Amino acid sequence: MYSNIKAAVVGSINMDIILNMERVPEVGENVLGTDYGYANGGKGANQATALAKLGANVKMIGKVADDDNGHKLIEGLKKNKIDASAVAISGSQTGLAAIILDGEGKNRIVVYEGANAEINPDEAVASINDDLNLLMVQFETNEDVVIASVNHAIKKGITTVIDCGPAKNFSLEKMQGATIVSPNESETFALTGIEPNDDESILKASKILMERSKAKYIVLKLGSRGCAVFDGETIKYFAPYKSNVVDTTAAGDCFTAALALEYVKSGDIFKAADMGNRAGSIAVSRMGAENSMPGVDELLKF
Ligand code: RIB
Repeated sequence: MYSNIKAAVVGSINMDIILNMERVPEVGENVLGTDYGYANGGKGANQATALAKLGANVKMIGKVADDDNGHKLIEGLKKNKIDASAVAISGSQTGLAAIILDGEGKNRIVVYEGANAEINPDEAVASINDDLNLLMVQFETNEDVVIASVNHAIKKGITTVIDCGPAKNFSLEKMQGATIVSPNESETFALTGIEPNDDESILKASKILMERSKAKYIVLKLGSRGCAVFDGETIKYFAPYKSNVVDTTAAGDCFTAALALEYVKSGDIFKAADMGNRAGSIAVSRMGAENSMPGVDELLKF
């Protein structure tokens, strides 16, 4: 369904260490974990993996260090049929994310950016081929790389999707004219100072995001409330699909990847929002980042 789409992701590649516990500790408190494990992650790599599992041709543009985690992560990308030739291998240490996950599947994440913060903007731009249909970025690398990549893709007429994670007040004004800007609730607050918790605040925040980014669409990821699409005039809501929440890690990455692919395919932002919801709902029902991404058949059946 999406096999004709050529996509590139400029973004982070992390080793995730996931520690499970019934409840997270208070300040100064120790709690016992129930188990732990390692998983390939990073918002950029997760989105690349989601795109590839959905059938697109994907190139990952990023950086890992010449260490064990870096090599494992590159192998993981290749295993998922992602072109890793534009992943530079140098820099301090490979990115690492410590994820603590409570009994309700809610996470708290601390990221050490390492090599992700050292991607060279010129090298990233040089790897964005003119024949791409889609470029995706997030905010887990350095700002210059994101801005240079987005502006280059816009100039080339490539559909450009900005996932606003992790939460920070990024300079959206420096990369105006993308196709879709998509923050979750905390990212919306970081960018607008508004908590998107009712119709009025959702509209107000969407207008600010539109004004700052001059994007074609703003798509707010609203967690258990689904998503909201703003086209500059009206807001349309899409309720989520029901699923058993096990781990919310990377659900947003999965959502944005499916949203982007369906938009490139059909040009229909509402159909795209529905695909995003399907993908996000499947992702929360599974543990881990990379492992929770659905294939295209699952998405359609869901
Ligand atoms: O969005 C989830 C991701 O955020 C994790 O895989 C972790 O690496 C952090 O970057």
